[in-house]
Amino acid sequence: MFVVVGVTGGIAAYKSVSLVRLLVKAGHDVHVVPTDDALRFVGLPTWEALSRNPVTTSVHDDVAKVRHVALGQSADLVIVAPATANTLAAMTAGLASDLLGTTLLATTAPVVVAPAMHTEMWRHPATVHNMEVLRARGVHVVGPADGVLTGGDSGPGRMSEPEEIAAAALALVERPRDLDGVSIVVSAGGTREPIDPVRYLGNRSSGRQGVAIARAAADRGARVTLVAAHLDADVRPDPRVEVIAVGTADELGTAMDATADDADVIVMAAAVADYAVAAVSEHKLRKQDSPGGLTLQLTENRDIVSALVAARRDGQTIVAFAAETVESDEELLQRARAKAARKGVDLLAANAVGWTRGFEAADNALTIVDRDGRVVATASGSKDDTAHALLDAIAAIRAASRG
Ligand SMILES: Cc1cc2nc3c(=O)[nH]c(=O)nc-3n(C[C@H](O)[C@H](O)[C@H](O)COP(=O)(O)O)c2cc1C
Repeated sequence: MFVVVGVTGGIAAYKSVSLVRLLVKAGHDVHVVPTDDALRFVGLPTWEALSRNPVTTSVHDDVAKVRHVALGQSADLVIVAPATANTLAAMTAGLASDLLGTTLLATTAPVVVAPAMHTEMWRHPATVHNMEVLRARGVHVVGPADGVLTGGDSGPGRMSEPEEIAAAALALVERPRDLDGVSIVVSAGGTREPIDPVRYLGNRSSGRQGVAIARAAADRGARVTLVAAHLDADVRPDPRVEVIAVGTADELGTAMDATADDADVIVMAAAVADYAVAAVSEHKLRKQDSPGGLTLQLTENRDIVSALVAARRDGQTIVAFAAETVESDEELLQRARAKAARKGVDLLAANAVGWTRGFEAADNALTIVDRDGRVVATASGSKDDTAHALLDAIAAIRAASRG
């Protein structure tokens, strides 16, 4: 496998020497792309000798080979370790001021970063924001670990160990293509029910989990259609995915009905409004029209999942989500079982939501039950990780049903 290892200017660069050795020993074709600052910590000859490939930091070397994009285009996997606060900010902004920057912009391979910095830098709102943006773009993050840092202080900021980084990164590309040729429709995001031409009733779904499922399914070989209700601005569907944009629950239902026939797998990850405004005003409602208060009459929306289940064809797998505010794991499981039975879906993925969890967050935790209420998997971590855990469960029940 063609692996690019970006090394940036932190003390932990010395640990990436072991990372490069591990990858080379495992038989991979490793290309090290250091930043200029990285070379102040570990010199160029070390990287060239270990990787057995030429090393440069500059877009102006070896121009005939169009190196500034060739490395990214050839890569099956890109690892940035250590990833400094500076490089993470440059990645967020899409800067292309050195060979690592152009390589990162030119690649469609999975990108793994292993941040390393002092705790204060890691917790700074700028870095927190950058990590959110990068995660939402699908960058995989390993660490940082909690421990003693270079200045003798301690806290989160230590680069993860090379073995852990290599294992996490290789697992991404060695994922099974077990959905080759399978067609999947995924719904994502939050529906918006209009009140008048400028206002709506919505929910806090960012679309991150559904978009991650769509991307993960494409990684595993599926043909993917994403029925996208409102997505947060930083949540962008993978270019391999066909996107159908919808607004209301009714529009989402219509799009699901239209695409369901051709789908082998349907995953309803969108947060769909249960109710719509009975009489949508043609003009903007004014305060003077309803002095002292406004009552909105709501009517119940149709049950999209039940309709899909009623129309399910042979061999089709239907998966629903349940976002629940619960007091305990036990209560979450009970609700998951009840909903799976009520809806007749093949799998139900339940996640606890609340003011600070589930929605909008980069991480998620899922409890996945089958139609009989058996827990087939639990998963927690990034929404990419939980997406793959859900697809593992989908692939497993499809294999079991084929005997
Ligand atoms: C001794 C030393 C250690 C450093 N360690 C780190 C680090 O662990 N993480 C970090 O984000 N920056 C660290 N820095 C600061 C970076 O080297 C600096 O921000 C540099 O501009 C990063 O450039 P690069 O991201 O292009 O490699 C360190 C600087 C020095 C002098």
